[in-house]
Amino acid sequence: MYKEAKAFIERMYIECDLNKAEMEERLTHIKREIDATGTYTHTQDELTFGAKLAWRNSNRCIGRAHWRSLNVVDARDISSDTQFLSSIESHIKEATNDGNVKPYITIYHPSHPPRIYNNQLIRYTGYEDCGDPMEKRVTQLAQHLGWQGKHSDFDILPLIYQMPGDTIKYYNYPSDLIKEVPIAHPNYPKLAQLGLKWYAVPIISNMDLQIGGITYPTAPFNGWYMVTEIAVRNFTDSYRYNLLPLVAQAFNFNSLKNNTFNKDRALVELNYAVYHSFKANKVSMVDHLTAAKQFETFERTEAKHNREVTGKWSWLAPPLSPTLTSNYHHGYKHAMKDPNFYYKKKESRGCPFH
Ligand code: ARG
Repeated sequence: MYKEAKAFIERMYIECDLNKAEMEERLTHIKREIDATGTYTHTQDELTFGAKLAWRNSNRCIGRAHWRSLNVVDARDISSDTQFLSSIESHIKEATNDGNVKPYITIYHPSHPPRIYNNQLIRYTGYEDCGDPMEKRVTQLAQHLGWQGKHSDFDILPLIYQMPGDTIKYYNYPSDLIKEVPIAHPNYPKLAQLGLKWYAVPIISNMDLQIGGITYPTAPFNGWYMVTEIAVRNFTDSYRYNLLPLVAQAFNFNSLKNNTFNKDRALVELNYAVYHSFKANKVSMVDHLTAAKQFETFERTEAKHNREVTGKWSWLAPPLSPTLTSNYHHGYKHAMKDPNFYYKKKESRGCPFH
């Protein structure tokens, strides 16, 4: 742990151009704390800088140019249900910011954190016959706890959480807390009649944050959406909402035979619809080509600081017209730098009742 702490602290002091003597002092202090207690405590500055670096090092993220703008909330002292729920609501409210989405992370105590069972703070239910198949397991867990949904395609899942030493509970958000965008296409009124919508802010709540040898198991974080995440993947993947046939009808395509290229056309129009619906509702969203441009800028800035940009190519190449972006045309080293975000191990992710 000390080795990892040292690497992180040294990086912080160098990058932030801080006092060398103070760094030595801090390291001595950390060493003593680890020897005495088996762990150490980040200062607020360390927590803030560490969370930002975790974003900068996230190989799958195309939005990393904005890593410096992350708002970091230190929630390590939270111990009661009420405090916890209000910190979650405050995250959603501040991050949504009436549609002008701000990147936020709320970090809970590393060794006795409240536990969150949701994949994202806001997510739609998945039932056998409708909704988001990705969320079937969390939906079952909610039902097991006594929660009942409306059985629609877009029921918002409750927050499912557990305070240390307490039982698992669920909590329904007040409905005015959750911003959603109805999907329409200016040229095809039939699309709006499908009643599609999506929530404004993706807040990932199932990953570990690691900083300098310390793991934070509960640290929900968000940016804003890139259009393809919703239009290409969530709406169109055959194992998600699988909407291509339905949407194509709304766009008046009468054949979806491969060689008509209408599948491709429908996909492009759906992206157009999602993007412009978000904009019409004054909710932040970036298109894939702009996001890729911003990523190029990020790569140039990192190169200027002599830092290598690691990445996962299959995630950085957008799933629509990838060859129109520069990151399609070169490779990335998929090495994990610390600090970073990690998927949780399988054992800790299953249904706690089965
Ligand atoms: N792809 C995920 C979703 O569709 C969200 C992942 C995070 N995305 C982001 N733009 N920060 O819900």
